[in-house]
Amino acid sequence: MPGAWPLLGHAPALLRDPLKFLAAAYGLGELVCVRLGPATAYLVNGAEEIRRILVTEAEDYDKGFQFDYLRWLIGDGVATSSGAKHRRQRRLMRPAFDHSHVEGYVATMGRTIADQVEGWEGRRRIEAGAEMRALTMTVFARAMFESVVDPRRPSYASEEILRSLPVLLDGIGRRALLPIPGLNSVPTPGNIRFDRARAGLHAFADRTVADHRAASAAAPASDAAAAPGPADLLSTLLAAVDEDGSGMTDAQAHDEIMTLLLGGTETTAGALAWTLHVLAGDQRLQAEVQREADAVTGRALPSAADLGRLPFTRRVVEEVLRCYPAGWIVGRRPYTDREIAGTVVPAGAQVLLNFYGLHHDPGAYPDPDRFDPDRWLDPDPVALRTHYLPFGLGPHSCIGEGFAWSEMLIAVTAIASRFTLRPVPGSKVRPMARTTLHPGVVPLLLEPRTPGAERDPATTGA
Ligand code: HEM
Repeated sequence: MPGAWPLLGHAPALLRDPLKFLAAAYGLGELVCVRLGPATAYLVNGAEEIRRILVTEAEDYDKGFQFDYLRWLIGDGVATSSGAKHRRQRRLMRPAFDHSHVEGYVATMGRTIADQVEGWEGRRRIEAGAEMRALTMTVFARAMFESVVDPRRPSYASEEILRSLPVLLDGIGRRALLPIPGLNSVPTPGNIRFDRARAGLHAFADRTVADHRAASAAAPASDAAAAPGPADLLSTLLAAVDEDGSGMTDAQAHDEIMTLLLGGTETTAGALAWTLHVLAGDQRLQAEVQREADAVTGRALPSAADLGRLPFTRRVVEEVLRCYPAGWIVGRRPYTDREIAGTVVPAGAQVLLNFYGLHHDPGAYPDPDRFDPDRWLDPDPVALRTHYLPFGLGPHSCIGEGFAWSEMLIAVTAIASRFTLRPVPGSKVRPMARTTLHPGVVPLLLEPRTPGAERDPATTGA
């Protein structure tokens, strides 16, 4: 890759504008060597090579450097572990995320989202980045822990998560951007807040595991079977049993709570904030989503079946995930020397998979920077298989994909049926490529609406 600085290599260009860097590197071949300070990283652009690394040769790689830091921070859950340990954890977690369980969370998601969105009534403006973060954290708290939530203090899980998780996520974003050893242990106010938030969430995870264990020990088996509504995610995780009859230890459950807190909130929040940004900027798209929402649910809480009847909204979100993939770059590290696109990549090297490049390949997506949900009406099946990886691929692919889809469709529909969104004049939204690809601050104007009462946007000057 041309353009390396002495000593720093490509780090300044990558930090200054990571997406521009990835787009430029994508055109240079299937494998591009990038210098990050003294280290060489191997940027993989070839779709088939990426597939091979993620699927057929998945066992030859672990998750790489970024995940070493995460492991220290949140423990060794399914996202950071590899090999036999990963396979066992994934087996134990699968039931909590299977289709029937996710369907069970739809009612909880719908109620939680309706509560939050109805709280916007009377407001003229929101900051969609922060609102979507709060929304996904509250939804997660309810779906994950609801069965032991004390009805007199219904939001203790979401209160703790809303207090500490944003501090942790922002701190991780900052640390990912400036990975200078030693800087994080200086007792600055920011570092102290970060350490407190981390300790708070670890204590919270311990407490919820203990509460759930105590609740299930106290409830006779017949009560559990007769309990109304679905078990929450954590109860399902704790009840899971592996082939050899063993289940999750408390320590393991703790690590999985931390993993899901990180993996299951910011990703969905970013996708939703992008969706609202796109809809606010294109009144015709928004009117189409509103029409669909009105026809399918109005303001009622959607059922799982309703979510299958939102094809246009689904295409909008599919296109959001193409244009702004949360996993814009994904890391791996080979255990032994590996050949990638004709080059020997040494054991332990940093391998970076260019998902952003794949999603913007003009060969797979004509005019790739144009936002066009209709490209999903009749997608090229080859491109779809090789150039669309919003949820990853292979044994480490996203376990929460179904959960995320339900949540996103419910949220977009609930918002579209109640409000028309417009951008705040003069505001600029730019992709922030951190641990996920987030739009950052998204100021939007809100206009309340009555379902079905729209004038044609073509005649309103929109
Ligand atoms: C739009 C929302 C989401 C996007 C775009 C997304 C994207 C991804 C991607 C690309 C990966 C693969 C990373 C890799 O191969 O290194 C992944 C893994 C993962 N995701 Fe998601 N995710 C989303 C929502 C969720 C949700 C809602 C949850 C849980 C509630 C979740 C939990 C996880 C976990 C635990 C993993 C690690 C799986 C493993 O390593 O076995 N994600 N996600």
